[in-house]
Amino acid sequence: MIVVGSGAIHLRDELAALGGEIGGIEIRKFPDGEKYVRVLGDAGEVTVVSSTFFPQDEHIIELLLIGDALREKGAEKLRAVVPYFGYSRQDRVSKEGEPVSVRAVMRALGLYYDELYVFDLHNPETLRFFPGKGVNLFPARAIAEYFSEKLGDGVVLAPDKGARGRAGAVAEKLGLAYSHFEKKRISPTEVEMKPVDVDVGGRNVLIVDDIISTGGTMVKAANLLREMGAKKVFVAATHGVFAEGAIERVSKAVDELAVTNTIPTPVSRISIVPEIVRL
Ligand code: R5P
Repeated sequence: MIVVGSGAIHLRDELAALGGEIGGIEIRKFPDGEKYVRVLGDAGEVTVVSSTFFPQDEHIIELLLIGDALREKGAEKLRAVVPYFGYSRQDRVSKEGEPVSVRAVMRALGLYYDELYVFDLHNPETLRFFPGKGVNLFPARAIAEYFSEKLGDGVVLAPDKGARGRAGAVAEKLGLAYSHFEKKRISPTEVEMKPVDVDVGGRNVLIVDDIISTGGTMVKAANLLREMGAKKVFVAATHGVFAEGAIERVSKAVDELAVTNTIPTPVSRISIVPEIVRL
């Protein structure tokens, strides 16, 4: 049985259409703002699906309440599928006195859930903080399928060396070449990019990243590719955590912007639901 939380309501119809047995759940708020959850039906082995995008704290608390309700009902095995994992970027202490926020959330979920599946976690190593089985999925197949007709003999690029594996995974599905940009972050809002070690002249390019936030990384990369004579520039990311105006900024700079539906956005055109149903 699949229980769909508030952070995955946008996935519910597709989950059902692809054969997922959707369990009943009542979710509402008390007048003071606290959340009320009631899980209906039998609980045996249950998969709870919910992303923890904004309002992150509310979505996280709801996952805990659903976990508690299911344990109360005697669930034998609980699996959490959290396509976008909020707080994942706070994975280290930079200033004394700070928490490792991703650890705090993973440990809390571990109180109820036996397994945790996430998509393209910012730092996959942080899954070790989850006490049970933790799996990081990358939607290479879904991204590749979406862009396969558009790229021709193109090239797949990562915006930095750390993301090279993502570009490689997508390129492998498409049978295309891949490489990466050299990127240096000068300040929280400024990124310096150096040319890539591949000839993009006259070729279509797909840039793949985990997250688009301000869009600064993608806009810089796209502009640079135009200067280098690229034909069409496409941009894909797993998570569209778009800051105000980011969709417009990136869309203006590229031929097409598409992200997956780990977070619902106007450009969430690539579905991760088939991957969830396959689990
Ligand atoms: C950085 O480590 C991430 O992989 C992304 O490149 C970054 O979060 C994108 O941020 P922005 O859209 O603000 O440039």
